[in-house]
Amino acid sequence: MTADPRLIVPLDLPTVDEARAMVERLGETVSFYKIGLELLATGGMGLAGELKSQGKSVFLDWKLHDIGATVERSARVLAGAGCDLLTVHAEPQVMRAAVQARGGSDLKILAVTVLTSLTDADLVEMGYAFGARDLVERRIRQAIDCGVDGVVSSPHEAALAREIAGPGFLVVTPGVRPFWSAKNDQARAATPEAALRAGASHLVCGRPITSANDPREAALKVIAEMAGA
Ligand code: C5P
Repeated sequence: MTADPRLIVPLDLPTVDEARAMVERLGETVSFYKIGLELLATGGMGLAGELKSQGKSVFLDWKLHDIGATVERSARVLAGAGCDLLTVHAEPQVMRAAVQARGGSDLKILAVTVLTSLTDADLVEMGYAFGARDLVERRIRQAIDCGVDGVVSSPHEAALAREIAGPGFLVVTPGVRPFWSAKNDQARAATPEAALRAGASHLVCGRPITSANDPREAALKVIAEMAGA
């Protein structure tokens, strides 16, 4: 069995050396990796280049959020690095700047609608007049209007995103947990099959694979479940 290009494994490891060792262990079973802030702060962009030279796809989870001019300049540099996915926060100014910067490059822009750690009470505290679900819906519509390529969404909002956006839009869902793995801190998890059926185009599945005794075998089990969706 070979890699499923819809499976993204986050390299949430403290050092580039440990991330590189995980990529080696997973071998041909995984073709798409996410690099988050911890690794980006410790040489993650160099690792991104290495992964690209091995033919892997790379998701840079920078979650950019700044004035439009700065987002545009930063996203232009990242588009030039040849990566595949880049996250930005789903504010219209930010999204428009990132879309402008990616131009006709291969980089796809993903909007983070509302962080899943935020509750309705947190949003009220921050001054929003919307609860989380309403704000997610509003931001999905704004993402489409801004020309963004997709959204990051919990499995529970994947169906909403797919319904609003229709086919072709990227819906990338973290919080994926096969029935045989621990939930860890993912309170609203879904199985790979359920997330894909809800409309996800890509699954981010980390610790069930990277914390397994045999990460390669765990990746193959996730891929087999995805094939059944
Ligand atoms: O190990 P696990 O499968 O929980 O990893 C999920 C990845 O997706 C982590 O890198 C985490 O930061 C990211 N993520 C998430 N929930 C969000 C957005 C991103 O778990 N709402």
